[in-house]
Amino acid sequence: MGTPGQRGGDRGDRGTRGHRDNEVGTGGTSGAPGTGNPGRSPQGPETPPLPSHAAVSPSPGDTPDRATPPGCPQAPACPRFPLAVPALSPALAVPPSAVSPVSPDPRCPPSPPQAFEECHLVSLEPLEQFRAWLQEALQCPDIAEPNAMCLATCSRDGRPSARMVLLKGLGPDGLRFFSNYESRKGRELDSNPFASVVFYWEPLCRQVRIEGSVRRLPAEESERYFQSRPRGSQIGALVSRQSSVIPDREFLRRKNAELEELYRDRAVPRPDYWGAYLLEPEAVEFWQGQSNRLHDRIAFRRQRDRAAPLGAMTHRGHGDWVYERLSP
Ligand SMILES: Cc1cc2nc3c(=O)[nH]c(=O)nc-3n(C[C@H](O)[C@H](O)[C@H](O)COP(=O)(O)O)c2cc1C
Repeated sequence: MGTPGQRGGDRGDRGTRGHRDNEVGTGGTSGAPGTGNPGRSPQGPETPPLPSHAAVSPSPGDTPDRATPPGCPQAPACPRFPLAVPALSPALAVPPSAVSPVSPDPRCPPSPPQAFEECHLVSLEPLEQFRAWLQEALQCPDIAEPNAMCLATCSRDGRPSARMVLLKGLGPDGLRFFSNYESRKGRELDSNPFASVVFYWEPLCRQVRIEGSVRRLPAEESERYFQSRPRGSQIGALVSRQSSVIPDREFLRRKNAELEELYRDRAVPRPDYWGAYLLEPEAVEFWQGQSNRLHDRIAFRRQRDRAAPLGAMTHRGHGDWVYERLSP
């Protein structure tokens, strides 16, 4: 199980604003239109395009520093919203998929100062909408780790536990993160393969909740990411058995030194108890805080039976998604 370095894609790999090695593969975004952020333009400062889903996370030094625009692209209703609004780079303004954006909608009223309306959604496919919000969070210099998410799992008998992990890939199939399969979360996911994650981007006054089933990804994918990690993190993955009780810190230090010596001249093998998970969303909720307390909540859920009639307040989204507005 893991050590600090072993916490797959975890703090061992984490970067800082100045040297971000903590990248998440998100593909592109359709960006500005309809995010409830008047003033956004589709052009702007040079921000490196994000890697695609497959290229999960580069190692430190692989990634140029993210451009630091003067302020976050925030909802203007947010009390901490700085007025300087950066724009998206042309590279990021490319629509990521065939999903047609819902804006501009001629019926959509001009963006009122305090609202996140349905017509501000950039897509009716919630993962595309999430990608757009994540992209804005990634561009916000005031958010140290935009891809940090609180992951809640449950034991077989329904007792929840939560902890932070890093989102390392986002694709049409779901969210990827890495961890130790024998950790507490790993054991809980073995016996109850459902989870919920929450992102909170405070400067943007935004929260996203995503729920769904979780499964392990094939070993090749874990292998690919493991090999991209810094050597120290790879060693760390071998050092400890995450969530197990150990005698003291010296135990870790000694084991780390032994393994550094053992793998001095050769590649560090990925332990088979460490790897990738995929969370396949069944529900995604977007929360946009407003200073007038009339916060916006738009919740998507999958409705597998596409022929089933929709309630009066339920709207059809992309594919088998439907969405509703919830009271804050
Ligand atoms: C910001 C942050 C990011 C983290 N990222 C990861 C991660 O990606 N994977 C992981 O296994 N642990 C990560 N950790 C450590 C976990 O929060 C947790 O301590 C560890 O996974 C053991 O959890 P468990 O005993 O519930 O399984 C992170 C911690 C923080 C604070």
